[in-house]
Amino acid sequence: MNEWNPELNVGVASIDKQHKIIFDLISDLGKAIEDGKDRRRIEKLLDVVENFVYRHFHAEEELLKQHADRIPHTLEHYNLMREFNIYRFNLRYKKQEKIPLHTFVHDWFVNHIKTQDIPTFQDSAKKQSSETSPPPEEKPDRRRNKRIPQGRITDDDIRAQCYNYFNLKKSTATVVDIACSGLRISSIAQHKLGDLVNIKCRIGTNFKLDEKLRVVDVSGTEYGLEFMDISNEAKSFLTNLYGAIGKYSRS
Ligand SMILES: [Fe+2]
Repeated sequence: MNEWNPELNVGVASIDKQHKIIFDLISDLGKAIEDGKDRRRIEKLLDVVENFVYRHFHAEEELLKQHADRIPHTLEHYNLMREFNIYRFNLRYKKQEKIPLHTFVHDWFVNHIKTQDIPTFQDSAKKQSSETSPPPEEKPDRRRNKRIPQGRITDDDIRAQCYNYFNLKKSTATVVDIACSGLRISSIAQHKLGDLVNIKCRIGTNFKLDEKLRVVDVSGTEYGLEFMDISNEAKSFLTNLYGAIGKYSRS
């Protein structure tokens, strides 16, 4: 049951290879449970599955950067990690034991491949092969990555409320830098690369930011985060801070 089969081929060799590895990891997990391995061993194997799946999702998202379904697909990954963590949490505290763990993990993953990965990656491969001319070169957005010193917005510290969707923990942070593409925060809370974090804070006197961001850089207690699906309000607020678009697009 826990084996990859050709029906699960998504048409991208690197992704299929990672899927096969995940099936092997799930199979190891199933065997360990059947053999009655102790809880610590099961938890360790769950960590391995979680870490590998996590990196795998990130690899898929990188490949889908230009795909129209990138945001919904990424949010689906976030939902999957959340379901996985909730199941683990319930299992640890014996709140739910009706579905065997490896059956849950297997079905949870197979369902994602069939309903999300195969349609998305096969569509992407079809588009690439039917393109007769290369896509127009995208002009770099000069506002992107342009940093705004915090002092231009406020002289006070910007305190933020954070909620990490992966470890399900709330924390606080100081926003040390703001850009069109994301934020840099300082926090003693632990966030891992790729974590999805909701950040709420007030910038200046009138603007309340409430956005989902992904951790793209970890440096000690500082984290770089990129907006996932920025709201129109936040986009226009940041655009106003940077000035008119025309000013920056002139060559
Ligand atoms: Fe996926």
